[in-house]
Amino acid sequence: MKVTMTVNGKERSAETEGRTLLSEYLREGLRLTGTHVGCDTSQCGACLVHVDGQPAKACTVLAQDCEGAEVTTIEGMANADGSLSRIQQAFQDHHGLQCGFCTPGMVMAAAALLKDNPQPTEADVRHYLEGNICRCTGYHNIVKSVLAASGQSVEPVAAE
Ligand code: FES
Ligand code: FES
Repeated sequence: MKVTMTVNGKERSAETEGRTLLSEYLREGLRLTGTHVGCDTSQCGACLVHVDGQPAKACTVLAQDCEGAEVTTIEGMANADGSLSRIQQAFQDHHGLQCGFCTPGMVMAAAALLKDNPQPTEADVRHYLEGNICRCTGYHNIVKSVLAASGQSVEPVAAE
């Protein structure tokens, strides 16, 4: 069956099976490979995207259930002129990535957090990111990046 949704502001369609996950739809159907698959069992958060404005692990959602939805992926996070968004720039400035595998999910989670809570505490950030695993264990710098993206000081965060 064909499933159609709005992805990063554009209407997109791809053929799916009933069991096709949103992560597969994005990566294989639309070739948007910025959404990573680290576990496929809802644990790592590498596949996090936004569906109708809410964060969702794309490996836990069937593509067919997103028919007509508004989906945002990491490819849709840059500014309109192609420059890095505030959150992406903060990850670069504060070394919030090492291998980068978890980074798309971390950036999408950070965006969801800052939308709901523009001035999170360090504890808020750590709590919110509990569903996102960084296998490089770069958590301190990821937390710094999110705090910096919110315009706050990163000084209280423990050094790596
Ligand atoms: S691939 Fe979806 S949570 Fe790990
Ligand atoms: S930067 Fe390597 S998994 Fe997070």
